Amino acid sequence: MPELKRIGVVGCGAIGGQLARSISQFFQDRARLMVLCDLDARKAQKIANELSPPPDVLPIDSVPVHCDLIIEAANGSVVRELAPKALEMGRDVIVMSVGGLVEIYEEVFALARRKNANLWIPSGAVAGIDGLEAAMTGGVTSVRLTTRKPPAALHGAPYLEEKGLRPAELTEETVIFEGTAREAIRGFPQNVNVAATVSFAGLGLDATRVRVITGPGIATNSHEMEVEGAFGRMVTRTENVPSPQNPKTSYLAVLSACAMLNEILNPVKVGT
Ligand SMILES: NC(=O)c1ccc[n+]([C@@H]2O[C@H](COP(=O)([O-])OP(=O)(O)OC[C@H]3O[C@@H](n4cnc5c(N)ncnc54)[C@H](O)[C@@H]3O)[C@@H](O)[C@H]2O)c1
Repeated sequence: MPELKRIGVVGCGAIGGQLARSISQFFQDRARLMVLCDLDARKAQKIANELSPPPDVLPIDSVPVHCDLIIEAANGSVVRELAPKALEMGRDVIVMSVGGLVEIYEEVFALARRKNANLWIPSGAVAGIDGLEAAMTGGVTSVRLTTRKPPAALHGAPYLEEKGLRPAELTEETVIFEGTAREAIRGFPQNVNVAATVSFAGLGLDATRVRVITGPGIATNSHEMEVEGAFGRMVTRTENVPSPQNPKTSYLAVLSACAMLNEILNPVKVGT
């Protein structure tokens, strides 16, 4: 019988809470949920109490000590603190707050290679990352991500403040931003995870183009990815519904994390 992978979850909200329950429910034969960690320890303890066997609730520094695989589902500053420490110890890490890697990805990717540890980035809220990865091996000439968001979801974006734009006053669908992924991440931090994931899988932060569209008819988040290269042309469109636990998180992101865990723990893999 293979050794059980010891897993820790950091951040027990919409994504982490669902993953904790999935590990206990579906992966008992391959993994053991050892540790839950949340800034709000009561939240982690509440989930731990539902599970059998109950994981320990521990502070963040203890997680890599007790686990082979750590799932980050908290925020970007947790990624910047946790990922380098865990990889340095040779632990595998799944990162959900992908935007947290933008400033440090070169060192962190190199560290994972040096330590022979795995850094996993799920597709999250966007479909087509598998096709993009396959296309990259043959050569890709352009990647464009178009994100549509309701005006209220863009509230407080630095780009809008800088340009004095008020999406709530628009009378029709409007392209309010067009630029590189790096510029999009700076101007629209709410959109950081998808733009970063597409960039890491494809042409990088400076060659990936991003458009942000908003307007009165747009009620939910959607992402369109257009890729051109030696393989031909690919267009994917993902129309997301919010997760029931966190309206800011697309439900597909929660499911994507569960699917990645299944892929890691399952010897049979389908898709790139
Ligand atoms: N990759 C993607 O496409 C994608 C999509 C959606 C969300 N996300 C990201 O995944 C992360 C989790 O999303 P969510 O919807 O579960 O969020 P959430 O707000 O529901 O849960 C986050 C949890 O992390 C905890 N937390 C915050 N700071 C912490 C710290 N220092 N140590 C331990 N715990 C801490 C919070 O208390 C909270 O319980 C977010 O960063 C979000 O932006 C990524």
